[in-house]
Amino acid sequence: IQAKYHWQSQNVKQSGVDDMVLLSKITEDAIVDNLKKRYMDDYIFTYIGPVLISVNPFKQMPYFTDREIELYQGAAQYENPPHIYALTDNMYRNMMIDGENQCVIISGESGAGKTVAAKYIMGYISKVSGGGSKVQHVKEIILQSNPLLEAFGNAKTVRNNNSSRFGKYFEIQFSRGGEPDGGKISNFLLEKSRVVSQNENERNFHIYYQLIEGASAQQREALGIMTPDYYYYLNQSGTYKVDGTNDSKDFQETMEAMQVIGIPGDIQTQVLQIVAGILHLGNISFIEAGNYGQVESTDLLAFPAYLLGIDPNRLQDKLTSRKMDSKWGGKSESINVTLNQEQANYTRDALAKALYARLFDYLVESINKAIQKPHEEFSIGVLDIYGFEIFQRNGFEQFCINFVNEKLQQIFIELTLKAEQEEYVQEGIKWTPIEYFNNKIVCDLIENKLNPPGIMSVLDDVCATMHAKGEGADGTLLQKLQAAVGTHEHFNSWNSGFVIHHYAGKVRCRMISTFPVLIKVTNDLVNTLMKCTPHYIRCIKPNETKRPKDWEESRVRHQVEYLGLRENIRVRRAGFAYRRLFSKFLMRYAILTAETWPCWRGPEQQGVLHLLRSVNMDNDQYQMGRTKVFVKNPESLFLLEEMRERKFDTFARIIQKAWRKFIARKKYEQMREEASDILYNSKERRKNSINRNFVGDYLGLEQRPELRQFLAKRERVDFADSVNKFDRRFKSIKRDLILTPKGIYLIGREKVKKGPEKGQIKEVLKRKMEFGSISSVSLSTRQDDFFILHEAQYDSLLESNFKTEFLSLLSKRYEEVTKRKLTISFGDRLEFRVKKEGWGGGGTRIVVFQKGPGDLAQLKPGGKTLSVTIGDGLPKSSKPTRKSFPPSYAHQNGGAKFPRGPHNPQADITYSSPQKQGRPLQGGPPKLGSQRGPRPPAPNQYNQRNLDFLNVPDQGMSGKQRKRSITQRPPPAPKPQPRPQGPRCRALYQYVGQDTDEISFEVNDVFDLVKEDASGWWTGRIGGKEGLFPGNYVEKI
Ligand SMILES: Nc1ncnc2c1ncn2[C@@H]1O[C@H](COP(=O)(O)OP(=O)(O)O)[C@@H](O)[C@H]1O
Ligand SMILES: [Mg+2]
Repeated sequence: IQAKYHWQSQNVKQSGVDDMVLLSKITEDAIVDNLKKRYMDDYIFTYIGPVLISVNPFKQMPYFTDREIELYQGAAQYENPPHIYALTDNMYRNMMIDGENQCVIISGESGAGKTVAAKYIMGYISKVSGGGSKVQHVKEIILQSNPLLEAFGNAKTVRNNNSSRFGKYFEIQFSRGGEPDGGKISNFLLEKSRVVSQNENERNFHIYYQLIEGASAQQREALGIMTPDYYYYLNQSGTYKVDGTNDSKDFQETMEAMQVIGIPGDIQTQVLQIVAGILHLGNISFIEAGNYGQVESTDLLAFPAYLLGIDPNRLQDKLTSRKMDSKWGGKSESINVTLNQEQANYTRDALAKALYARLFDYLVESINKAIQKPHEEFSIGVLDIYGFEIFQRNGFEQFCINFVNEKLQQIFIELTLKAEQEEYVQEGIKWTPIEYFNNKIVCDLIENKLNPPGIMSVLDDVCATMHAKGEGADGTLLQKLQAAVGTHEHFNSWNSGFVIHHYAGKVRCRMISTFPVLIKVTNDLVNTLMKCTPHYIRCIKPNETKRPKDWEESRVRHQVEYLGLRENIRVRRAGFAYRRLFSKFLMRYAILTAETWPCWRGPEQQGVLHLLRSVNMDNDQYQMGRTKVFVKNPESLFLLEEMRERKFDTFARIIQKAWRKFIARKKYEQMREEASDILYNSKERRKNSINRNFVGDYLGLEQRPELRQFLAKRERVDFADSVNKFDRRFKSIKRDLILTPKGIYLIGREKVKKGPEKGQIKEVLKRKMEFGSISSVSLSTRQDDFFILHEAQYDSLLESNFKTEFLSLLSKRYEEVTKRKLTISFGDRLEFRVKKEGWGGGGTRIVVFQKGPGDLAQLKPGGKTLSVTIGDGLPKSSKPTRKSFPPSYAHQNGGAKFPRGPHNPQADITYSSPQKQGRPLQGGPPKLGSQRGPRPPAPNQYNQRNLDFLNVPDQGMSGKQRKRSITQRPPPAPKPQPRPQGPRCRALYQYVGQDTDEISFEVNDVFDLVKEDASGWWTGRIGGKEGLFPGNYVEKI
């Protein structure tokens, strides 16, 4: 089978369909198949219209480099393969163009890749947006907030080695000019219970292990750091290490992040004291003494009290008694009630959790303080909330998280399925409705205030009356729940809890008797999200093994089903890909026609029609609503977008090119002057060399793999040219001379003597010189082009037209690498040492320079001396003149016009790699540690090795309803619109694009001529890529 390639980008293999709107059959099978095909071909991203599906690859993909950042910048969605950068770029541009705040909701199960996605978004924004030092500072804090919050808010769970145990809404705020100059993090639902206990194969928050592994000797002493098994809060799960995580290194990173964020040194110490204090607090245990709880060993009080800065006796009182206010006939009185052992344990844990939660809030607050700005302008919000999870034991926190996820699914449905269809009705558009499973019913079950009251309401009620007394509460609660929602389709109760049929599956919740308030947090979040233009990334987790290329079909199918991808595609396809208010449409495409630019005079609807007709859009491709225009297929829209981009591009690129030219010119003028300085007063100059433009790479190495093979993969080329090299008998031979930051290469050609390629001429690396071994360079004082590279072993006598440029670049690199100045000497009698070959080789040769006729050097070899005669050149004191650049854009093809800009280091996105192969099942109590205090972990009734909860969840009622709601009759697939035919041209010469905004072509290639331009840089489209090229390389046909 012949591989298909992406129609827009060269060399991108086509795998399945990029946008599942284009699937020929819309079934769950087809969707899963398409995702699988792409996943196996290493394409993790796929679209459904504007929604991005991302399947966790569990390995680093190669397409997150600067190259992609450049590629996706300002490109339309359909131009490149699906990518999170495309979505991010789109948000950024929408924000700037429409002046609307944007947000992206990243959803998916735990370990599906949400947090990694969020980091890619931040990285992209940071790269593409400009900004001065203030903005750079904000960017750095935004990026550094990740390691800090992950240290304190992430933990290893069975599903994800770096699972976020808190929800986060991160707003990046922008100036009117699009620079990120501020930000705000809202955190919610930190999983506090993890501070005091963890399930089997899980850990506490990373910071604990980081501190234990990474602390200095002095810190160990001050904070009482022992091995992790010493601490009750760490030894219950028996898991201390995470594959692929270096806790000690991460600790340094965490401290570094605190530094960058501006947390002062003494506060940093306090932060660590609280962390350690909590650990020591956990080791305080209680015994039952006559119905009262008593501290088992009072010795253990002193250290945590010291670390937390409180009196040990007060700590003891607080842990074993409680103050209660009671009212007696209008008089209120406060009494101390002594606690029993269980209550004392509970109080200790409550204190630990509260301390940790406040510490976490403090850190978030510090970040916010460092990046807040006085008034908000534009923003892009990223919601990364920890995903829907089903554990063996689903406590109240889990219940809350799943509820928030349920709400997010509801928003998604509201905005993409429900609102979409309702809008058609409102606008009077002809439309056949499509059914879908609406999870509002589950949200109502949980959050309804009245008629019938939802679960939360019942919980609130019970809590208010029970005062969290313990035992009886659970029973009462269950009874009340049964009475209130017992008949609800999505609810069942069982002996010690209840089951909710979430959109993603059935979850059993255990009852615990204390409940914070949650609904408000959720609703605030929903309100924030509703205020901005939403975007969606739906992450899919393909397996539970965390291994690349492992595809567990049933798991993916389950996610595809409950995410409602099929309904999503169908609504999208049957509907209109695009809709816009008449006024916004007019504004966006005003540039397309003279009548609409700068603004349309007349009724808006007429203006819109005028624009649609100007691009010859088919009548069946759009409908006019009451206030909006609806465009059916993305392809039709692309037509408009493309025309618009072209108009903008041409203008923008002209400005951009002019600017680059200006910058480049300045840079080269400076280089030339520097180069000239090297020879100033030492050597006569050639007439045509003094004002030469420096090009750098005269060989065009980008396109010469046979030469590039000798260089490292991304090795930068400073200079490359073909030179003459002279041997011991002064015979000259061609060599390719390449200068890179690593040294000097001399490449020659030889006939292959043996093997299958016998007789062919092949490139051979004849010599590589490191800067460290070069001692000096010598030249004559006359205008000739000779120079000698003096090296530790032997010297090379070379001749190059571009010696001045080479020397200047060489001396710069030389100084950079060796921290010494390159010695350059001048004289008319030069000596060079030849290579020792066998015996008889070696020795030295002399080159003598004399005055003679003409500007060309005459060579006369004689024994061990070469004499070079040449006429007088320009005086040694000649300097380049400034206005030497030719008026038209000097261009030399086959080689770079200008060397590339400085190499950008790769995007700094890090995450721990998934290493775990399979799940370790070992259990058993940890060995008891050091001197005193440690207790064996409490027997955990849930610690049975039952991993059933990792199975694909039962879909319950939600699944049934989903199946019920799926109607037949898929609408026909949209036909792509033909592209417009315009003027074309044929290439007279080969041209190799030198920049990302240029195109390349071969002699006789025929392609679309999009625009001619007086600057000489025309715009063309070839192989789906549009870009600039020199107009005089083609003829118009
Ligand atoms: N795009 C990606 N490329 C490579 N690995 C990834 C990618 N997304 C996720 N992973 C791997 O999966 C793990 C879990 O991802 P994470 O974003 O933490 O999940 P979530 O936040 O959804 O729980 C990461 O630690 C990483 O090893
Ligand atoms: Mg996460």
